[in-house]
Amino acid sequence: MSPAAVKSTSRNVARLHPLPLRVMHWMNTAAIFIMIGSGWRIYNDDVIFGWLYFPDFLVIGKWAQYGLQWHFFGMWIFVLNGLAYLTYGIVTGRFQQKLFPISLREILATVGDALHFRLSHEDLTVYNAVQKILYLGVILVGILIVITGLCLWKPVQFSELSGLFGNFQTIRLIHFLCMSAIAAFVLVHVTLAMLVPQSLLAMLTGGPIVGDALAGEAREPPVAEPAAETTP
Ligand code: HEM
Repeated sequence: MSPAAVKSTSRNVARLHPLPLRVMHWMNTAAIFIMIGSGWRIYNDDVIFGWLYFPDFLVIGKWAQYGLQWHFFGMWIFVLNGLAYLTYGIVTGRFQQKLFPISLREILATVGDALHFRLSHEDLTVYNAVQKILYLGVILVGILIVITGLCLWKPVQFSELSGLFGNFQTIRLIHFLCMSAIAAFVLVHVTLAMLVPQSLLAMLTGGPIVGDALAGEAREPPVAEPAAETTP
């Protein structure tokens, strides 16, 4: 193969997790940690549950006011990055390809496998039903937490939206429950990533080659890594 052909082959391959997706995933991770840590600081100042305070070593911001500043800083990263991720997922067809369809049969079979510790993650390129539900669920909860956050931040400007949820305390509770769902997701998600280290490596390096980048998100089954002679 000529050097030019080698170059174009290596430039056009699409990996399981393309670079933009990886950048957005890790930016989102940083934003979530800032938002949860600073949110706990703000919560401690006016708790919803009398028995629940978050220890100082887990919160971000020395006082509630600093917590609030961190929260708004994280919010801009989370919202802008989240909009970019949603646009990317829809425009490239990634959501349709990776997260759909989900059938009840597939869910029951995957849950059965999980209960028998038979859940296999050998083929990184295909998400099982539990992964699909978890990813779709966390995306929806992410949208809901932003909407309720806007209602808490600007209750007058978003009064019609706020009216859909109820009074201020109800919106606070929904916002808190969304945070709890995201925290639970992160716990399960990170545990699974540790149990399947090659999935973590793929989210860092891009993972296996799955098709041609010029065709957008790959729709073909994965192909083998390029032979040594095609590697730049
Ligand atoms: C240290 C923290 C994190 C680690 C180690 C981690 C790891 C990973 C890994 C390895 C994957 C690849 C998917 C797989 O094979 O199952 C992935 C995908 C994903 N992660 Fe995370 N993650 C972290 C934080 C988060 C957070 C905070 C969120 C959202 C709240 C999140 C949401 C997602 C989503 C939605 C996907 C699917 C992306 C796609 O294919 O479009 N992750 N993560």
